[in-house]
Amino acid sequence: MQLLDGKAISAQIKSEIKLEVENWVSTGGKKPHLAAILVGQDGASETYVASKIRSCEEIGFTSTLLRFGAETTEAELLAAVDSLNKNPDVDGFIVQLPLPKHISENTVMEAVDPSKDVDGFHPINVGRMCKGLPAYISATPFGILEMLIRAGIETAGKNCVVIGRSQIVGLPMSILMQRNEYPGNCTVTITHSKTKNLKEICQTADILIVALGRPEFVTADYIKEGAVVIDVGITRVEDATKKSGFAIKGDVNFADVAPKSSFITPVPGGVGLMTICGLLTNTLKAARKEIYK
Ligand code: GUN
Repeated sequence: MQLLDGKAISAQIKSEIKLEVENWVSTGGKKPHLAAILVGQDGASETYVASKIRSCEEIGFTSTLLRFGAETTEAELLAAVDSLNKNPDVDGFIVQLPLPKHISENTVMEAVDPSKDVDGFHPINVGRMCKGLPAYISATPFGILEMLIRAGIETAGKNCVVIGRSQIVGLPMSILMQRNEYPGNCTVTITHSKTKNLKEICQTADILIVALGRPEFVTADYIKEGAVVIDVGITRVEDATKKSGFAIKGDVNFADVAPKSSFITPVPGGVGLMTICGLLTNTLKAARKEIYK
């Protein structure tokens, strides 16, 4: 079993981006500028956004955090999106999800200018990705692809099973893994809460991507000997022995599954750390106008 070490790979990618930024700025380019909108006080979102902003500082980006209260109206949020769309100094921005229930996430995502949509959530970026056109690839799928590439994992002709059909992970991941390029060329099965015989389907997977949000759901009996196991789950579970009062659990029972797998991502320290790299890569592309000229 080999560990797909998100900590090491993400540190490597960040140092590569830092160098690219230095080169870009030294040849007269503007420092990439990422803005983030955070609505409400969701604990996990606070942590993620703080980490995104910190990463920007580390690699030489400018960053702006716009905070809104949980009672903010959809109209107020759309006005903020519009002003970032129009701000020429901002290369790309994100609206951290989830949003409070009274705000439509789809409406907000569609309001973002696709050329600044560094989360890759706008239907135009999703559609362009499906057609194999230049597009911002969303952060988690980007992170997973990059882990496969850097570990040199062969994907062509493999059976890839994805558990979960979410807009931000399962769905784009299934599209990317079937593309006629590397990583890709897999025979992809996408499974969800209504899937029958989930365990049997997972047992056919050479590459299993787990993104259903149920702590330690996948156990060794789901796994084919030698499978590559990618755990996207990040759930906070109460744990009185921790200072924070919670522990972070993945969707895979690591101790059980690891001995059977060829490669596996830990949680924490796996896919979660990689996602930021996707966002930073997209922001650099936005600043250099690589996707939308
Ligand atoms: N919430 C969970 N993951 C993400 C992400 O990648 N982007 C945004 N904006 N919100 C999220």
